[in-house]
Amino acid sequence: MKIAFLAQRPHAIPSLASWFIAEWPQYYGKRSRADVEEEFRECLNTERLPIGLVAYQDDAPCGVIVLRESAMTDLPQYSPGLGAFYVAASHRNRGIGAQLVHAGIGVAKALGHSAVYATTGRAAKIFERAGWRDLGTILHRGQALTLYRWEAAAEHFGAARGLRL
Ligand SMILES: CC(C)(COP(=O)(O)OP(=O)(O)OC[C@H]1O[C@@H](n2cnc3c(N)ncnc32)[C@H](O)[C@@H]1OP(=O)(O)O)[C@@H](O)C(=O)NCCC(=O)NCCS
Repeated sequence: MKIAFLAQRPHAIPSLASWFIAEWPQYYGKRSRADVEEEFRECLNTERLPIGLVAYQDDAPCGVIVLRESAMTDLPQYSPGLGAFYVAASHRNRGIGAQLVHAGIGVAKALGHSAVYATTGRAAKIFERAGWRDLGTILHRGQALTLYRWEAAAEHFGAARGLRL
């Protein structure tokens, strides 16, 4: 499994659109396929947000994550954010999701960000294991989501915890 910028593998976009329409029919199913694909085409950047990252194996896409302006459009103050997080059902529970989150943080750090946000209902453990801090629960379209914050400073602190002065 490898992770690349979506900009380097734009042919993955039709697969990503199919995944999202099937996974979130109440949101993506209401939109045209062309519109969903266009949203991913807006992520074909490498140095400015939104930046799509795609996981792939044997040349076929198996996961995606996007570093974007905010964790959620309704919460612009939590910026930048990781979202559009998905791993193909056939490839789950192998650590690909965790590696996509790690890669997203790497891109944010390279752009000079010292914090990144994400909201999740189902992937909480992935963020918690990676040291993200739980900022509380928010209600979004009737669904309870946890808001997480990753901080570069906390990462350094974590790395230094074993030091004896
Ligand atoms: C959420 C999602 C992206 C996670 O992707 P994933 O690739 O399965 O994530 P990981 O493999 O890193 O972690 C998932 C589990 O596999 C476990 N795992 C990781 N590597 C493993 C391995 N080598 N062997 C066995 N289990 C492993 C992890 O411990 C984790 O378990 P836990 O959450 O019960 O603690 C994926 O399930 C998904 O796309 N779901 C549908 C869409 C969705 O909910 N998106 C998130 C919206 S915020």
